[in-house]
Amino acid sequence: MLMALPAVADVRLPGAVEAGSRLSFNAGWRFARFGEQADGSKAAEPAGMETAGFDDKQWRQLDLPHDWGIEGPFKIELPGETGKLPWFGIGWYRKVFTVPAEAKGKRIFLDVDGAMSDSTVFLNGEKVGGWPYGYSSYRVELTEHVQFGAANVVAVRLDNKPHSSRWYPGGGIYRNTWLVTTDPVHVAHWGVYVTTPQVAKDKATLQMQVTLDNQSAAVAETTVAVDIWRLGDKPVKLAAIAPSKLQVAAGGSAACTLNATLADPVLWNLESPVLHCALTTVCVGGKVVDTQRSVFGIRSIEITAERGVLVNGQRVSIKGVCNHHDLGALGAAINLRAMERQIQILQEMGCNSIRTSHNPPAPELLDLCDRMGMLVMDEAFDCWVSGKKPNDYARFFPQWHVKDVTAMVHRDRNHPSVFLWSAGNEVPEQEQREKGNAVLKALTEIFHREDPSRLVSAGCNHGGVIDNGFYKEMDVLGLNYKRGEYDGFHKKDPNVPLLASETSSCVSSRGEYYFPVSNDKGSGFFDFQASSYDLYAPFWAFPPDNDFNALDRCPYVLGEYVWTGFDYLGEPTPFNSDPSNLLNFQDEQSRKAAAEELQRLGKIKCPSRSSYFGIVDLCGFKKDRFYIYQAKWRPELPMAHILPHWNWPGRVGQVTPVHVYTSGDEVELFLNGTSLGRKKKGQYEYRLRWNDVVYAPGTLQAVAYKDGKPWAKDEVTTTGTAAKLTAVADRAAIAADRRDLSYVTVTVVDKDGRMVPRSKNLVHFTLTGPGEIVAVDNGDATSLEPFIAKQMKAYNGLCLAIVRATGPGAITLTASADDLAGAKVAITGK
Ligand code: GAL
Repeated sequence: MLMALPAVADVRLPGAVEAGSRLSFNAGWRFARFGEQADGSKAAEPAGMETAGFDDKQWRQLDLPHDWGIEGPFKIELPGETGKLPWFGIGWYRKVFTVPAEAKGKRIFLDVDGAMSDSTVFLNGEKVGGWPYGYSSYRVELTEHVQFGAANVVAVRLDNKPHSSRWYPGGGIYRNTWLVTTDPVHVAHWGVYVTTPQVAKDKATLQMQVTLDNQSAAVAETTVAVDIWRLGDKPVKLAAIAPSKLQVAAGGSAACTLNATLADPVLWNLESPVLHCALTTVCVGGKVVDTQRSVFGIRSIEITAERGVLVNGQRVSIKGVCNHHDLGALGAAINLRAMERQIQILQEMGCNSIRTSHNPPAPELLDLCDRMGMLVMDEAFDCWVSGKKPNDYARFFPQWHVKDVTAMVHRDRNHPSVFLWSAGNEVPEQEQREKGNAVLKALTEIFHREDPSRLVSAGCNHGGVIDNGFYKEMDVLGLNYKRGEYDGFHKKDPNVPLLASETSSCVSSRGEYYFPVSNDKGSGFFDFQASSYDLYAPFWAFPPDNDFNALDRCPYVLGEYVWTGFDYLGEPTPFNSDPSNLLNFQDEQSRKAAAEELQRLGKIKCPSRSSYFGIVDLCGFKKDRFYIYQAKWRPELPMAHILPHWNWPGRVGQVTPVHVYTSGDEVELFLNGTSLGRKKKGQYEYRLRWNDVVYAPGTLQAVAYKDGKPWAKDEVTTTGTAAKLTAVADRAAIAADRRDLSYVTVTVVDKDGRMVPRSKNLVHFTLTGPGEIVAVDNGDATSLEPFIAKQMKAYNGLCLAIVRATGPGAITLTASADDLAGAKVAITGK
């Protein structure tokens, strides 16, 4: 199991001389909320909170990253579309810090990886910057107002308007922050751009474009040199590129390009994601004034309609998922281990790509994808000029889109994992002809200008984009839910690569099954849950099988991004009364029917606060659907999976269909040792179904074959009643740094240790030793129990506790429940 990987900032290059500093600025903030409060009351926003002298002693102390929304409480009357959580309102953060007297003459910057949203940054009472879009990373310069050798106060004001998002955005400085100190002559922000224009087995060419800022009053005569390192357990220096002279005018910027050729390069690819680092050294008068580490990979990406996505010349079919940014019970507050765990679960399924729907991700997600071998479709926006919600990004687009796209591209363009830019998702501009096409054209131009090495796409759900010319303004046509139209598009313009940028949107609740099992995709809903037969979906959506079918018939499509890999907070379709849902309907009649349904939903007290779309639930527990994707995406892995569970005391003698997902091609199903028949998958069939199984308690066994040979088995057995809990930690040793996490799965089992499928026991957690319970969850989209708690009801047999170590030593987490034997798990903080 991987340890939480160090951030790029911690990459060590032995013997390298480095200058300038970039230190975590996360610790020791104070925080208070104003405007609308979690309990519905209003708190006035006093004047003067930006000033150094303001008395913030009553404010809460905390470390970043922080998401105030996830603290709850959930409230049934809040909109389900944004998670029924109080992420809205105004938040202020303040931090006192000292800048040493020796730093006088240096430039001091604050880097914010993401603050939700509309931030204004003050230093010692003076406004120094800010950024509206909560998903962008930005830098503000503090120097002018810094007190050297004294205390300084930085204050950040955030303002989250209601109706500004179609999903749970979180609230707060939810990503990392950094204090950067440089010489007046230094590498510009994101000022090193590394590309690998030619990549072959025996040789690769590298190109480094380095931009310097000179914030001094004199011309700077600099030299810029770059060393190339191969990273790994023991970094190896591969090349030293001779210094290049670069003159930078006083108060100006200048760029130079350095080239290198590497013999026998070790390439980055999905199986072996080897990384390199360009260490840029800037000297003035022979003295090192700045250094910059830029991690990159040596790889080529080509995308054509004819050959698909080629990584180093090899076709990679996109087996992707769309994911939102929240991390379940941790909310939007980023955590490296939580993201790493998500990627591990996705890779176990055979997933090779993430679409960061619908916004730039945390930079650490890209670091992880670089290191773990995932491709990323890096997406900018969910809307442009025409908004989807009254207070969404459309408010800022005209003044900010150039800055936002530029920031995203500059920040992300060295990541080998990023293989495609997406300018947006299902924007209303798709249908606006010349007017809309012009917006896309302008955006694509920014992407191309700032990164000529990658192509640009956008997710379109409007069939008219091919006739109205919208698609011509992008390089790769992203199609959402257009499985029936690939051939038509392809025939009209065979030269344009097609990507299924959003597929399926099947919905299910882990462990829920309803009868009779119908193929009518609108029929699988009951009590605010969705049946897990993986046949149910909203109007525009389909079961996974339908998309596999469409893609197998149209191999020229680059691959798919399933909506979604993980469940996320908000958007609990089909129990989501968010009117922006209507954007999914293209004809008047269905729009009208949907509007009526939304009206009806708006009137009932619907508890749902998180999505049902995930292949994996909010806890990271696999739903059945995980296995249909694994079967398709990892054909070489022997596996079989039976659904449903086999505890149906009320169904003895009744028809209870059984479905099996397997990477084999044939399955024989047995009930209590009697064969129910051997079935073979037909062409374009992705599951095997026994629709007439008559329920009797006992054991169902699936024996899968491939090419006539035994391949894999699965078994489900009727269990006894709940007798005890088991607790299993995904990692028994974690770093004692308050950030690393152990995810503990608690299962309600019978006396023989088998999960009791419908159990809902209330589980209490206690912890001893140097650790704490960060959050608990159970993956139930209708649960309004708090995440930050020491108890959680099991949902269909499972619940989760997320633990961190506050210091080194032995931690014991105990799980207990009435009438059940409890369980303990040992975790060591190191
Ligand atoms: C798509 C949209 C996604 C999500 C999804 C649910 O149309 O792009 O953001 O809303 O529908 O099916």
